[in-house]
Amino acid sequence: MKVLGVETSCDETAAAVVTEQGVVLSDVVQSQIDVHAKYGGVVPELASRAHLTNVVPVITEAVNRAELRFDQLDGIAVTCRPGLAGALLVGVQTAQALAWSVGLPIVGVDHLIGHLLAVYLQHPGLEDSAKPELPYIALLASGGHTALYRVTGPQPEQIHELGATRDDAAGEAFDKVAKMLGLGYPGGPVIDRLAKEGDPDAIELARPMARRDSLEFSFSGLKTSVARHIKKHGLPGDDQHLRDICAAFQRRAVDTLVRKAVRASRVTETPTIVLGGGVAANGELRTRCAAAGAKHGIRVIVPPFKSCTDNAAMIAYAGTKRLALGHDDTGVLTMNTKTCLPRVTRKGGGRRARP
Ligand code: KG4
Ligand code: ZN
Repeated sequence: MKVLGVETSCDETAAAVVTEQGVVLSDVVQSQIDVHAKYGGVVPELASRAHLTNVVPVITEAVNRAELRFDQLDGIAVTCRPGLAGALLVGVQTAQALAWSVGLPIVGVDHLIGHLLAVYLQHPGLEDSAKPELPYIALLASGGHTALYRVTGPQPEQIHELGATRDDAAGEAFDKVAKMLGLGYPGGPVIDRLAKEGDPDAIELARPMARRDSLEFSFSGLKTSVARHIKKHGLPGDDQHLRDICAAFQRRAVDTLVRKAVRASRVTETPTIVLGGGVAANGELRTRCAAAGAKHGIRVIVPPFKSCTDNAAMIAYAGTKRLALGHDDTGVLTMNTKTCLPRVTRKGGGRRARP
């Protein structure tokens, strides 16, 4: 089975062709970083307009690179939730028009499920990570989402959210702190680089969601504590002070991500953790997760960076799992800004199940 994936939920216009086994035949990602950089974050209206311009060329390029014609595809998978409404609409409408004109089945895919299954992608010519046995814990940390899931299979009803951020996503916190420090957008990679030469203990910052038994995240207190530090001491004048702020912020953000992922693995007795989302590129997060895994007997898998960030290959792959079961959303496909993944109630977790 060869499936075309289309992804336009945020600020990447992407298309890819992937097999049911996860082999990536093509993977095209047109980033909009240049469009949004001067605003320090994604501007929804500009994102929709850029998707409109880019979506057809990106899809055409993906099918050409896979050396296929449209009528040689077995189906189309498109991100239909969650995301920016205008941005999602562009992908959903384009994919539906294409499916109708070629006569292909189409399925809508939850963007988060794409991230959670991206570990199964196989990029030819790229060293692949190990593949996890089911079930596994997935820590998804990106610019738009930060949550922990227990994955028991590829279908939506086999994936449960164990805890999520109550405010900012981890990547969003990196981006906002970078903006405060005048470091540009996206902030994650810059903070990662500067933190390497900083002293994480040189500055006192709030510890995010220190409560041990919770699997929820919160990054706004940490972000505010960086803002207070800057207000009190001014913007860092010398480079070492800047590096120290980056190191202190990153240490606390990574601490909470690692601690809660390990806790999720232990309380659910699931000995594998898979990282996903753009923040999985963070050097300290990777090292600390590996060290925590070794300490607690947990297998930690970090997919290649290409699979962690937003892409359409993960959407195509998740789509193959629905198409293989005979699903076809032709005529009923709608987009939604919310995820379809249910949250589970945990004892003392304070979070109620949602339909
Ligand atoms: O998954 P992604 O490409 O897009 C979203 O779905 O948001 O993630 C982008 C996010 C941005 O917030 C970016 O700052 C962050 O991932 N990021 C990093 C690093 N590289 C990218 N955060 C921390 N350290 C990094 N090395
Ligand atoms: Zn994403």
